[in-house]
Amino acid sequence: MTKRPIFVLPVHPDPCPHLVIERGPSNEGVGWWVPQVKHTHLAKYIGGTRKAQVKFPKRVLIDPFCGPGRIQVRGETFTRDGGAMVAWHQSVASQCPFTSVMVGDLDLERSAACEARLLAAGAPVQRFHGPAAETALRMADAVPRGALCLAYIDPYNLEYLSFSIIERLAQLPHVDFAVHFSLMDLTRNVDMELDPERDRFSGANPGWRDRVPAKAAKGSLPAWFFDDWRAQISKLGFSVSHEMPLVQDGQGRALYRLVFFSRHAFPDRIWVDIARNPTRSLFD
Ligand SMILES: C[S@@+](CC[C@H](N)C(=O)[O-])C[C@H]1O[C@@H](n2cnc3c(N)ncnc32)[C@H](O)[C@@H]1O
Repeated sequence: MTKRPIFVLPVHPDPCPHLVIERGPSNEGVGWWVPQVKHTHLAKYIGGTRKAQVKFPKRVLIDPFCGPGRIQVRGETFTRDGGAMVAWHQSVASQCPFTSVMVGDLDLERSAACEARLLAAGAPVQRFHGPAAETALRMADAVPRGALCLAYIDPYNLEYLSFSIIERLAQLPHVDFAVHFSLMDLTRNVDMELDPERDRFSGANPGWRDRVPAKAAKGSLPAWFFDDWRAQISKLGFSVSHEMPLVQDGQGRALYRLVFFSRHAFPDRIWVDIARNPTRSLFD
């Protein structure tokens, strides 16, 4: 068997260098794992599913936490494409260009920057402004009949991963999901969120507190919550891939998992292949 070449995300010039750049919540630059894990999986998934995608005349990217479309990695002197730009460029390179790229962000400056960069790269953009829990509903309404959709759901925190976003998008007939599931928040705070005075996680997993086993040990709660969330996704008719790349920081702390779910075996097979061989190209 011939070895497939190594896949490296291309670095494109920034078409709008004067616009805002994503440098993470602390503004010190995003972690290396953003391009190397998150964006690499996104690009490889788009390239890997090319043959299935071209069968659909309409192909839609749904990105309700889009950021400005440009990132800077901590320690790097240059900037790179953000997620929506990675996805658009890959769809073009793989000859299955999205027929609509739907982007939204709570921050108007960011969604406008993302839109400007996508337009400069020739993408058919539709911009939505506001919280993802609202824009995702409008995005779903705007999806053309019969379109194949990829929902890329990428919030900083679990608190903003509203289950209602997934529930609404799940009503689309042809949709696959790649979701950034934040573990930091969960690991640090889930036991405190059992307190009836608080509850930041019920948006992400409605009713979770009623389902927690009475005798659950505090240390088992984060894993229980994640399993329970996946069970709720399965109830929507999706199969959650068992390959869920874990991203850790330099100190070995779990930051998030990239969770993929779909209704069909083919996209799941592609995701599994990517997750098991993250550096190998799928495109030869
Ligand atoms: C992790 S960054 C997005 C990075 C981008 N998806 C990428 O791959 O380059 C998260 C973005 O979500 C936005 N955001 C925060 N809360 C939000 C909310 N409730 N609804 C929509 N966007 C939100 C932030 O302004 C930020 O731009």
